[in-house]
Amino acid sequence: MSPIKVGLLGLGVVGGGTWKVLTRNAEEIARRAGRRIEVAAVAVRDMDKARRLVGDQVLVTQDGMEVVRHPDIDIVVELIGGDTLARELIMEAIAQGKHVVTANKALLAKHGNEIFAAAHEKGVMVAFEAAVAGGIPIIKAIREGLTANRIQWLAGIINGTTNFILSEMRSRGLPFGDVLAEAQRLGYAEADPTFDIEGVDAAHKLTLLASLAFGIPVQFDKAHIEGISSLAQEDIAHAERLGYRIKLLGITRRRADGIELRVHPTLVPMECLLANVEGAMNAVLVSGDMVGPTLYYGQGAGELPTASAVVADLVDVTRLQAADPEHRVPHLAFQPDAMDDTPVLPISEVHSSYYLRMRVQDRPGVLADISRILSEVGISIGSMFQQPSGDAQADIIFLTHEAREGSIDAALLRIRTLAFVHSDVTRLRVESLI
Ligand code: NDP
Ligand code: HSE
Repeated sequence: MSPIKVGLLGLGVVGGGTWKVLTRNAEEIARRAGRRIEVAAVAVRDMDKARRLVGDQVLVTQDGMEVVRHPDIDIVVELIGGDTLARELIMEAIAQGKHVVTANKALLAKHGNEIFAAAHEKGVMVAFEAAVAGGIPIIKAIREGLTANRIQWLAGIINGTTNFILSEMRSRGLPFGDVLAEAQRLGYAEADPTFDIEGVDAAHKLTLLASLAFGIPVQFDKAHIEGISSLAQEDIAHAERLGYRIKLLGITRRRADGIELRVHPTLVPMECLLANVEGAMNAVLVSGDMVGPTLYYGQGAGELPTASAVVADLVDVTRLQAADPEHRVPHLAFQPDAMDDTPVLPISEVHSSYYLRMRVQDRPGVLADISRILSEVGISIGSMFQQPSGDAQADIIFLTHEAREGSIDAALLRIRTLAFVHSDVTRLRVESLI
């Protein structure tokens, strides 16, 4: 059979990796796909750099539309990033009746509903395994492997840059900025690294996972997002002392009244597997009603791991392109006419346990007053400790039992006004993940 022809938009970290994987493992890939997969055209900005990698047998252009509209191209692989040009190119590829593979979670989290609807209409596939957790086949696992289950919740370390930063800050005491620079050098960080450190990249991915898990439309604008830029070293140390590690988790949970969709630094018990996922590694814990908890672990970013997922999609598309579109696996796991309108809950309706730290005057009655406020809004204290901080002041750290976030907010509003509370109150969520 003749080779299937691929047009690569972008030849950077992931695009370059995709070229390398397709070249190095060409035979093995052809044996799996049933035919060879060949890159016939690439679009880049720096054409000389691209030619040094792909040689002169491949069309190299600065015009992505030339690749998308090229009559020889069967599959368009979008690895440029961003949500403007990438969106135009993908929509044009779909209009041209071409299948698309992309790693662009930012684009799909914002415009996924439009893109998947257009692809469904046109009978083409838009595959995006590389968009979530790099080399881990988490999309295939949720969309196909767990298809018998009503998924209850999932929680994941889905941003390699922030996990790398948190790991290095904790284990080597390195400052935030130095570790971020190292993550950028290693190719983990997004073009705009604030997407990583402010939790936006993780929220893009979580939004896609929630759609796949619960059959709801892609709703990035409903996600609650907190990053790690204001996390204090002392909270990492206090958490450790209490038997927890702080991880940036994406959590989505089905509850009777709606769906939780949230990204934030989270205290995770040290004995939990997720707490021990270090460096740029990713891991996603998915709980289904039939299978129970399942865990997926691997490299969530970087050249070859991400390209591994891009090429897996290319093989899938190659195998399925001749199949009747109605019999392919739906883009978001559920049939488009069976999507659910369960609402995403506001953060005030989320339930979690909480870590609270505040600096107070060290005198009789302080603890009693704070405890009274917490109990008046129905919050039960699980444990607490106090650490003197000099000048007759002390840091008090509470771990609460599970509570509604709105109740915690109400308590903190009152606690912050107490004259003997000398700092803002640090509030972090604690999850047992069982
Ligand atoms: P890079 O910045 O390394 O590469 C981007 C590529 O796009 C470059 O080859 C660049 O060309 C090309 N490009 C940019 N603008 C244009 C344009 N206007 N016309 C033609 N080509 C253009 O990005 P990454 O490879 O890191 O990321 C690509 C996508 O993959 C993003 O959506 C990202 O979020 C996603 N992703 C990245 C991961 C990673 O580990 N890096 C992991 C998972 C997903 P030139 O080389 O000439 O500059
Ligand atoms: N910037 C992302 C990360 C790349 O650090 O995880 C992988 O999506």
